Amino acid sequence: MKIDILTLFPNMFDGFISESIIKRAIEKGSVEINIHNFRDYADNPHKRVDDYPYGGGEGMVLMPQPIFDCIDAIKTDDSFIILLTPQGVQFNQKIATELTLKKHIIMVCGHYEGFDERIRSLADLELSIGDYVLTGGELPSMVISDSIIRLLDGVIKEDSHVKDSFQEGLLDYPVYTHPADFRGMKVPEVLLSGHHENIRKWRYNEQIKRTKERRPDLIKKEG
Ligand code: ADE
Repeated sequence: MKIDILTLFPNMFDGFISESIIKRAIEKGSVEINIHNFRDYADNPHKRVDDYPYGGGEGMVLMPQPIFDCIDAIKTDDSFIILLTPQGVQFNQKIATELTLKKHIIMVCGHYEGFDERIRSLADLELSIGDYVLTGGELPSMVISDSIIRLLDGVIKEDSHVKDSFQEGLLDYPVYTHPADFRGMKVPEVLLSGHHENIRKWRYNEQIKRTKERRPDLIKKEG
């Protein structure tokens, strides 16, 4: 998979692409990530990317030209264009899983007060990462890329995400490691038993219990 990200703040992505699982996924060739500063595409001498809103009002608005030209330069027939905006569809694990099927994802990060409405016409999908407003789409684009990349073949062990929270509409079960007794807090007996079938049942029951307690809305959604 290839992910191209359009931003005015490319340095924000330095840590994201140079650490841990994402770094390894890039090195293995599971994903290629390109960061584009769309200011480079501004066709005016001062490389301006924003201007005052028609009709007046607070803040600056991103102009369409630099973003349209940047997309024209990188788009192919396989490209799927996502605009990050608090007005978009709320991102979740189901959307992450669907997006793993795309060959090429282009993400457009807005910044400042907003973007010219005509930029919306470029997008195949508008995504929000939650009902709060951030200073720009950079963090959302990293959140979304991260959740997609970890699902790609060979990036993490298959087992680790088959049982993820949300992957099957349920929260994950509790896990423990050594020691079996830490400051009086004991690991449930069944996990020490070596009885695989009992462990499987216990984990499934814990998933149901947890989801009912913490996210009853997920159970209802499942019908
Ligand atoms: N840009 C600013 N806030 C955002 C949000 N919550 N989701 C996606 N993009 C954003």
